[in-house]
Amino acid sequence: MIVVRTVAELREARAALPGSVGFVPTMGALHEGHASLVTAARGESASVVASVFVNPTQFGPTEDFTRYPRNESADLAMLESLGVDLAFLPSVREMYRAGATTFVDIGRLGEVLEGAARPGHFRGVATVVTKLFSIVQPDRAYFGQKDGQQSVVVRRLVRDLALPVAIVICRTVREPDGLALSSRNRYLTPEERAQAPALYRALKTAAKAATGGERSADKLRSLMLDALALATLGKPDYVSIADAETLEELSVLDRPALASLAVRFPSARLIDCQPLERQPNNQ
Ligand code: PAJ
Repeated sequence: MIVVRTVAELREARAALPGSVGFVPTMGALHEGHASLVTAARGESASVVASVFVNPTQFGPTEDFTRYPRNESADLAMLESLGVDLAFLPSVREMYRAGATTFVDIGRLGEVLEGAARPGHFRGVATVVTKLFSIVQPDRAYFGQKDGQQSVVVRRLVRDLALPVAIVICRTVREPDGLALSSRNRYLTPEERAQAPALYRALKTAAKAATGGERSADKLRSLMLDALALATLGKPDYVSIADAETLEELSVLDRPALASLAVRFPSARLIDCQPLERQPNNQ
């Protein structure tokens, strides 16, 4: 595995890679969720590039940028063991040259749900992803369903800017009790960790009701809130049943939808989501 830290080195090494290129952008502190993206890329592309970059522009001023977990040697060992050909680990200064003023703004899609709770977050994500695509020039790029809104944002950005990259969304990797793997799970106290699977149970409850024919989005939202009430240490930030493309809230489940939620525990804020397919209306 070649490891590079500058844009110039990356471009040179990228140009020498054979065949189609699959790309996995990450912020490091890698776990099996990230590994599943690399494995998917490895299976579909002649060459695989991964990046590790904790992107400051997607963190709010009071968020965990400085304490976000960083473990470069373990990350590199994992990427190498998964067969990555080229790893890109730029510094903040390398990615954001002094005086940089250009950002990618994806509009309202970045202002709802996670965007409402984290103003500017998706502007930072859209900017760094566009920039990484421009630097790496991948044929395919891999993202996790777990960050459902991020997947929608990236697909929209690629469409709106006509970027020549195919976006592949990979299913969420979970702990045996249903908790989605996340670099932030390590912040949880044992008591919070014990309650955290309530997020997955809430999504399952909504998905089951939808499959069973429930079409009222309000009913589905209240089922999710009921399930979350069991996590007494957590405070729900939102529960959402939204159009899968626009992320606007639905009243009736009459199109492909995304069930999503965020819960604020004292030690960490957790998110999870689950796509809901429209059920045939038999009435
Ligand atoms: P990060 O949180 O490191 O996640 C990198 C990728 O791994 C994302 O596409 C995310 O959805 C995916 N991922 C995380 N946990 C997962 C899980 N349990 N199962 C499947 N996939 C999972 O998301 C980011 O970094 C950043 O916003 C980034 C896209 C790199 C831009 O800075």
